[in-house]
Amino acid sequence: MSSATLDAERQRLGTEEPLLRVVEVVKHFHAGVIGSVKAVDGVSFDIRPGETVGLVGESGCGKSTLGRLITQLIPATSGQVVFDGVDITKLRGEKLRQQRKQLQMIFQDPFASLDPRMTVGDIIAEPLENFGLVTGRQKDARVQELLRVVGLNPYFNNRYPHEFSGGQRQRIGIARSLGLNPKLIVCDEPVSALDVSIQAQIINLLEDLQREFKLTYIFIAHDLSVVRHISNRVMVMYLGKIVEISPSQELYDSQEHPYTKALLSAIPVPNPRVESQRRLIELSGEIPSPLNPPSGCRFHTRCPIAKVPTPCADTEPPLEQKAPGRFAACHFSERVRTV
Ligand SMILES: Nc1ncnc2c1ncn2[C@@H]1O[C@H](COP(=O)(O)OP(=O)(O)OP(=O)(O)O)[C@@H](O)[C@H]1O
Ligand SMILES: [Mg+2]
Repeated sequence: MSSATLDAERQRLGTEEPLLRVVEVVKHFHAGVIGSVKAVDGVSFDIRPGETVGLVGESGCGKSTLGRLITQLIPATSGQVVFDGVDITKLRGEKLRQQRKQLQMIFQDPFASLDPRMTVGDIIAEPLENFGLVTGRQKDARVQELLRVVGLNPYFNNRYPHEFSGGQRQRIGIARSLGLNPKLIVCDEPVSALDVSIQAQIINLLEDLQREFKLTYIFIAHDLSVVRHISNRVMVMYLGKIVEISPSQELYDSQEHPYTKALLSAIPVPNPRVESQRRLIELSGEIPSPLNPPSGCRFHTRCPIAKVPTPCADTEPPLEQKAPGRFAACHFSERVRTV
């Protein structure tokens, strides 16, 4: 998104300063002689305090990499991540450590993300101890408080991760991330490894915690149906780029980008009358490699409305405002409804 477009969006939404501004962020992973993987390739957006923003797209499009860049788990190749007014990509050492406290990540796999050799109490207390926030007896009290907050028995603190179910483990991961009183949590597919019945419990817990602690979320998912109810806005990612940003409800009613439309067409609608009139938009061709993404619009090789070579294969469409609050990177977004 250009800075002029970002300014227009800010005006529309009032003067409140964004909690997070991501500006032209790039992450290329070197892959030896074959080149570099363009995992995130020039992404810009703002998030306001208290928002939940969904981030969706197919496997490999760069969602987790973007989450890691925002939480500074990996350094960006270029671009800025401005958190609470501070460009955290420029911070080093202790200053970076202190800012990082406010940015936490919850991971997809609750089985792999908890150290099996540590007790739950030690897992939850580890970040608190690293920052010198608890000592001695305070530690147990704080761990028990956090266990209670996420709906677990506070006396489970001496148990090990293998004694818990997937949903309980995810609650432990959430307790660990809450300990440092973060402002922003990147939830990286926090429910996709869980049974459907448990998914709703964890989502409800995240919503309750958001209200209680005034949290801001970026919620990553493969599937648009998961983010639908909890997100204020949804960002759709394709091969390292954001192709659409829209308020959640509006995105489900109509789409500005043909890729969003294709993703949504794969989700069944509970109303049989609506469902019978819909059709699945099949994406033609393979997902291209992020080692060598297509020229122009990266989606043109699979797009049902692309005009090639001009403009779709030779000109990259900017992410621009198509309707109030709705942004898409498509030369022909006005034709998306007819797909
Ligand atoms: N450390 C790394 N080194 C090299 N390539 C990487 C690294 N991490 C990610 N990639 C590549 O970057 C691209 C984006 O990966 P990423 O994990 O961000 O995708 P994703 O959208 O989170 O996918 P999924 O939905 O499967 O979790 C992929 O092509 C991946 O192989
Ligand atoms: Mg991922």
